[in-house]
Amino acid sequence: MVPHEKGERVPLTICGYDAEKGTVSFAFHEVGKTTKQMGCLNEGDCLMNVTGPLGNLSEIKKFGKVLCVGGSIMIAPALLQVKAMKAAGNHVTTVLGCRSKDFLFMEDEAKALSDKVYVASDDGTVGYKGLDFLKDLLKKEKFDHCVVLGPVVMMRDVSEITKPYGIPTIVTMTPIMIDGMGMCGVCRVTVGGEMKFGCVDGPEFDGHKVDFEELVQRQRLMLPEERLSSMLWEIHEEHGGCKCGRNKA
Ligand code: FES
Repeated sequence: MVPHEKGERVPLTICGYDAEKGTVSFAFHEVGKTTKQMGCLNEGDCLMNVTGPLGNLSEIKKFGKVLCVGGSIMIAPALLQVKAMKAAGNHVTTVLGCRSKDFLFMEDEAKALSDKVYVASDDGTVGYKGLDFLKDLLKKEKFDHCVVLGPVVMMRDVSEITKPYGIPTIVTMTPIMIDGMGMCGVCRVTVGGEMKFGCVDGPEFDGHKVDFEELVQRQRLMLPEERLSSMLWEIHEEHGGCKCGRNKA
């Protein structure tokens, strides 16, 4: 997704669609320059372009009991998977993970779509504190399949928790991307010792085979440049550079 002609591409996961209207929905946090620019768009404004869908289809079928874990902003696309898994005849238990109470959203939607819902937060201000409760849950209940959408560290932690129980665990990757066509290699992820590209081989991979440590390192590769770029954008916006007027008195 590119907001304007000089913008960068950012990978986002679809969280909804309306086939009749021909629309798709995305959810994002305003964490960097590009997402802040996108947050400045008003109804009726245009993005420069949207490329996709990239990669492969999600495997949606009747598995039996499915555990679906969504974390942070990825709660939104996780619920799309919950909806599809339910429609395929599965019993779906949904876990919503967030940093703290203020960051929890779509809980009502999750309850309406799922057979069971658990909430967990990093600081314990809502639901369970952390994801350790999953260890107890897996001791009590048997799951046939697990899907996880969220921050890399969360996907790693859930994959580690499900591994001893042999629950096939699918994680959705949105690594740093440039061309989105399998040519630049920026989105590479090591899976089972093999190099894969998030944009063409993904976005879903076997969570028990992903080299998460390498992925965490790669995600941090451009952090200083991203922070600088975001800071410069904020200064630009404060001085009236952005037309949305959001921060103007
Ligand atoms: S984004 Fe360039 S190869 Fe995937």
